Amino acid sequence: MKTHINDIGLAYSDEGQGPPVIFLHAFPLNRTMWAPQVAGLSDRYRVVTIDLRGHGESDAPMWRYTLDQFADDVHGLLEHLGIAKATFVGLSMGGYILFALYRKSPALFQSLVLADTRATADTPEAKTARFSMAQIAYRRGAPAIADLMMPKLLSPASCEHRADLRDHVRTIITGNQMTGIAGDLMAMEERPDSTPLLSTISVPTLVIVGDEDLASPPEEVEGMANQIPGATFVRIPQAGHLSNMENPAAFNAAILSFLTSVGKREEMPDG
Ligand code: MLT
Repeated sequence: MKTHINDIGLAYSDEGQGPPVIFLHAFPLNRTMWAPQVAGLSDRYRVVTIDLRGHGESDAPMWRYTLDQFADDVHGLLEHLGIAKATFVGLSMGGYILFALYRKSPALFQSLVLADTRATADTPEAKTARFSMAQIAYRRGAPAIADLMMPKLLSPASCEHRADLRDHVRTIITGNQMTGIAGDLMAMEERPDSTPLLSTISVPTLVIVGDEDLASPPEEVEGMANQIPGATFVRIPQAGHLSNMENPAAFNAAILSFLTSVGKREEMPDG
């Protein structure tokens, strides 16, 4: 499905019925990375997956992208869908956007799942690397970005032995336009440090990380989880950065157990 939000066409899928769960994808993928979660959750939950601006079937305008603007797009889509409160799941860049959305509109959050993401801002070296990657995208296109990103996205074992998964991720990445890829890099490079936000998060939170995540190392992600009051921390075995795709069974089990516990808490008289 596609609708018009904040002057662009935004594509999304809306499947199942029940409490809403909204999924925000990583850089530089699209909403189809959540296929295993749609399959695993939509019998009990209303699962909404979004192609963020610049990705998949959404428009990829040629101009400045910011995390606040991604957050505004998500908020606009929720208004369009009549969803006033939801659980949000964001992986990596999706997590960065959730920090921006929480900062602006905490009342939208029933609960929060942060996967393979970090609260800190880019270091000066990382900012330089964003600029270089944008130049590569401009000169050589999305296939070159897929080559660069693959070893960061999948665990070494998946890169070596899981050709189907590797090809699938590559196909998703190469379907993105250069304007969107450069826009993401610009937005991520400018993101603020969200560390001060962590101790203010007052909704139930689950933090997930792949055991072999090279982009967001498990120790760093656990340190982030420790700063969120009452957060649950889960490591996903046999998975790298795209833990939801590499080990969907463990990822879905962690989310379902969290959603069940949040549901029970709400049923309690003072919940
Ligand atoms: C992602 O998976 O979204 C990226 O690795 C995030 C980043 O480059 O900081």
